Amino acid sequence: MSVHGNASASQLSVESLAQGLQVPIHNTMKIENQALLAWVYEMAQLTTPAAIHFCDGSETENQKLLDLMVASGTLKKLNEAKRPGSYLACSDPSDVARVEDRTFICSEKIEDAGPTNNWMAPEEMRATLGGLFKGCMQGRTMYVIPFSMGPLGSPISQIGVEISDSPYVVVNMKIMTRMGLGALQVLGAEGFFVKAMHSVGMPLKAGQKDVLWPCNAEQKYIVHYPEERAIWSFGSGYGGNALLGKKCFALRIASTMGRDEGWLAEHMLILGVESPNKEKKYVTAAFPSACGKTNFAMLIPPATFDGWKVTTIGDDIAWIKVGPTGDMRAINPEAGYFGVAPGTSFKTNPNAMKTIAKNTIFTNVALTEDGDVWWEEMTDVPPAKLTDWQGQAWTPECGRKSAHPNARFTAPASQCPSGDADWENPAGVPISAMLFGGRRAETVPLVFQTNNWAEGVYFAATIGSETTAAATGAVGVVRRDPMAMLPFCGYNMGDYFGHWLSMAGTVKALPKIFVVNWFRKDENGKFMWPGYGDNMRVLKWMFGRVTGTAQAQNSTLGAIPRYQDLDWSGMDFSEARFEKLTQLDQNKWIEEVQSHKEFFSKFGETLPIEFINLQEKTLRRFKDGATTSPGL
Ligand code: OXD
Ligand code: MN
Repeated sequence: MSVHGNASASQLSVESLAQGLQVPIHNTMKIENQALLAWVYEMAQLTTPAAIHFCDGSETENQKLLDLMVASGTLKKLNEAKRPGSYLACSDPSDVARVEDRTFICSEKIEDAGPTNNWMAPEEMRATLGGLFKGCMQGRTMYVIPFSMGPLGSPISQIGVEISDSPYVVVNMKIMTRMGLGALQVLGAEGFFVKAMHSVGMPLKAGQKDVLWPCNAEQKYIVHYPEERAIWSFGSGYGGNALLGKKCFALRIASTMGRDEGWLAEHMLILGVESPNKEKKYVTAAFPSACGKTNFAMLIPPATFDGWKVTTIGDDIAWIKVGPTGDMRAINPEAGYFGVAPGTSFKTNPNAMKTIAKNTIFTNVALTEDGDVWWEEMTDVPPAKLTDWQGQAWTPECGRKSAHPNARFTAPASQCPSGDADWENPAGVPISAMLFGGRRAETVPLVFQTNNWAEGVYFAATIGSETTAAATGAVGVVRRDPMAMLPFCGYNMGDYFGHWLSMAGTVKALPKIFVVNWFRKDENGKFMWPGYGDNMRVLKWMFGRVTGTAQAQNSTLGAIPRYQDLDWSGMDFSEARFEKLTQLDQNKWIEEVQSHKEFFSKFGETLPIEFINLQEKTLRRFKDGATTSPGL
């Protein structure tokens, strides 16, 4: 059967695919999109699965797959009374996190991937992957997973289809995206979709017994073809390597779409702040991975903040387009939370704990004796006995962690108690402020408001975190992570900075840009700021800056709150300590801004000239000992 012949003479259908491929097809739904059927046909020919399953996204289908994985041992059903509808998966110890060194942007030209991405020529990569994918689904079912990133039918949303040989991927995609018939309906006969091809990379020969967590320990490739809007992922079944709607599509491919079409795909949470008189503003915030984005997105204000409310739109990704009235409108393209479990507790994030009370898939956490889950810091006192994430008996004295540090929960966003009423609004929510934060022990103050869009973009591009000895062997070296997008920008970051600057030409109501640092330490190496719910004090000040009611002092960087500008109700924090927390050390800042130049130099000619000017101007201000900056 030819799939490329005269379309009217050979209209494809699910049935004709089954016939042509001589493979059983589990679900014979009507699919009109010929491009989708032709792609499935081609991928099935390449990977030779034992069966094909077109996912309809129904509850029945979901339960069948969960039951199948319980029967095979891949999932454990948790205690129904304690954790209804929930499951535990434990991965192969070699497959526990995103693999940045195996992640590639295969643009036609190397300069379009830029200096921060791994690149390989598309033809060379296609040849490599062609070899790896040949026959790679042997003995497995190929799942065809149609999904929408963003509310079904929203003008900001996009359709993707993932092909995967992992049922674990299907049940996670069901939570993380709008998956199934609804997405197919939006796609229609002619619609465009992002092709996301995934295999765990472990074919099963006839009679070969499967393992609990199939993956390929030797070969892993997470590949993006930005011009084609296509993703090919091989060898991993874990998180962002395998749930291709998330980092691969919603950030790497979507950032490239955004560059081409005039919008932004960002590594940002979105939250709403509501004042006692019901005024509401929406804020996005970018922090590098593992800096508490989920906690901030679900923040509960201190008890003394009567009438103030924080509501959650998303905890990881924001797609931002220019709205009809020239404002920035954001949606959360995801439908669930794929959060880091260790450290999450009723103390640090009660809303997350309530979100994951049911219908949740846990990966790589520990199992309690009564069939529930546990991880480090979930409770002050650990259980006396656990089964750890590798299936070993665990006690508090054993010296090992019970959960993997990157253990995760996958939970429906609809279960979040702080969910915003507009979290699925197809028009998105209007963004009034954007926050950018790194993890800096010194130099960067608790918060400052940048003077204007260009300066905001400049400082967002220079946020970073000090490395720890564990990661690099060197302590205190700043690893810059522009807009927290370093591992996620699908094109040249120099061009990305230019794209951000260019939004000033298309957006009438530009959000105010703030830089925050929750992680400053004192001379004893102790964090100076308590964080968590107390971040509301900073959020309230920003709210006031947006509505024109909060005061500030001018500084070398922009507007910084004075002690009296923050609401200290219910908190004992001295003015002297606050001075320290917000102090700008002239010498450290001279060093800091000088190092921006070195960082920028790697972008060569793609670096916007505006950044060079701003670097020089800011450095001059610090060298001159200026205590104010123009433009407030
Ligand atoms: C994440 C990450 O998992 O940023 O969200 O790594
Ligand atoms: Mn993230």
